[in-house]
Amino acid sequence: MNRYRFIVISFVFIIGLITVSPSSGDTLPGEELFNKKCKQCHKVTEQLSIGPGLKDVTKRRSVEWIEKWLIDPKKVLDSNDPIAQELKKSFKRVMPKIPEMSTDENRKDIIEYLKTL
Ligand code: HEC
Repeated sequence: MNRYRFIVISFVFIIGLITVSPSSGDTLPGEELFNKKCKQCHKVTEQLSIGPGLKDVTKRRSVEWIEKWLIDPKKVLDSNDPIAQELKKSFKRVMPKIPEMSTDENRKDIIEYLKTL
């Protein structure tokens, strides 16, 4: 009887471990957001799509710049920001303002994900 109980408890314990194991957290919240809101225009490689490929974007742009850009791309494009002026020359389409990017939380998640590219 004791042996049986031990097996049942071990079994429950192992199932518990599997359920809460970190593998279920492998995808970052920003990745999901990216797939929904950005992927249609951006690849995660260097390859161009409607917009630039975003691999290493956090190395070529500062987090402050990306923040500003995500909040309101048009505002940055209309300013004399030199990076925006370059982008304007290279891309026909203009990145729209993404409503989800108005919250600090979502921008933080997206930027965390961009850092992994
Ligand atoms: C409808 C297409 C479209 C969507 C959707 C879009 N972008 Fe863009 N993005 C662009 C274009 C086009 C550019 C190039 C600049 C321009 O012309 O507006 C750009 C530029 C950028 C840049 C600057 C890249 C560089 O090399 O400097 C970043 C960063 C960026 N986008 C991030 C995002 C993120 C994050 C999302 C999702 C929340 C997103 N974009 C959604 C079209 C899009």
